Amino acid sequence: MNLTETTEFASDVIAGLSSHPKQLSSKYFYDDRGSMIFKDIMQMPEYYLTDCELEIFKNQKADIADEINPNGIFFELIELGAGDGFKTIVLLNYLVQQKINFQYIPIDISAKANENLQYALQLSLPNLALDCKTGDYLKLISGLTGASPKIILFLGSNIGNLTENESLSFLKQLRNVLNKGDKLLIGFDLKKDPEIILKAYNDPHGHTTAFNLNLLHRINAELGANFNTDYFYHEETYDHQTGTAKSFLISKKDQSVRFGKTNNIFRFTANEKILMEISQKYDETMINNFAKNSRFTVERNFIDSRSWFIDSLWKVE
Ligand code: AVJ
Repeated sequence: MNLTETTEFASDVIAGLSSHPKQLSSKYFYDDRGSMIFKDIMQMPEYYLTDCELEIFKNQKADIADEINPNGIFFELIELGAGDGFKTIVLLNYLVQQKINFQYIPIDISAKANENLQYALQLSLPNLALDCKTGDYLKLISGLTGASPKIILFLGSNIGNLTENESLSFLKQLRNVLNKGDKLLIGFDLKKDPEIILKAYNDPHGHTTAFNLNLLHRINAELGANFNTDYFYHEETYDHQTGTAKSFLISKKDQSVRFGKTNNIFRFTANEKILMEISQKYDETMINNFAKNSRFTVERNFIDSRSWFIDSLWKVE
């Protein structure tokens, strides 16, 4: 991280731990180690989101390809938060096989994730036109000034980490850097049996706990703090009415944590919670409202066989 990023990380963390209740931002989960732990999460049988979206891509790739490239002209396929590209590769494979004329531009905040993705794609799809970018989504999209149509992929229900207001503001900003005819394929995890949802975030393998605790390790390493991760445990809640799943780290005892670099001290009482992440679940009304309020038109929904997940295709008109 450069100095500005470190400063922003420090001020976000300090503000979050100074607020009541305490909170940290899940956007900081994805350092290199966090991105690796997230790969383990995606492979757990309980984490159904990946399977649902993979099924959509496997079974509906021809329809998706038709919709994103109706008249065969060159387009830029831009993926936000591509990670390891595990699901996208199904679509990429198909597009390359069909000799469809496009360039794939994955954007990720983890340089390491991008390096791995580039390596894997060069091996498995040598004919793919590829341009990996590391950094801020919106800045990098506005930097693409070519005249070709843009198809944005924002998969995996990644939007679910944002609050409703943040989501709307992000979608509006995204809409503003797009042009008429550009499209967005966006993944939403749907409301379903709360037990299924809770199992996806309370894994017996310990990956989700490790994912959350990794942010404390990161704060230790980058901000000189002295969190002892043995003194925190992970808990997940889900409210079916609002559709919001929340991830917490809970302090096992009264303790204080000192930040060496900034000289802050934070006190935790026994059982005090830090809100680490929200994972929003949606219904079709919520999805349609998001599209309408950010000035997109819903063109088509791609849904898995269990109706647990939607990849919704939106258009700029
Ligand atoms: C990558 C944001 C979709 O919220 O389901 C997985 C991240 N956190 N397990 C999600 C996550 C804990 C994930 N998203």
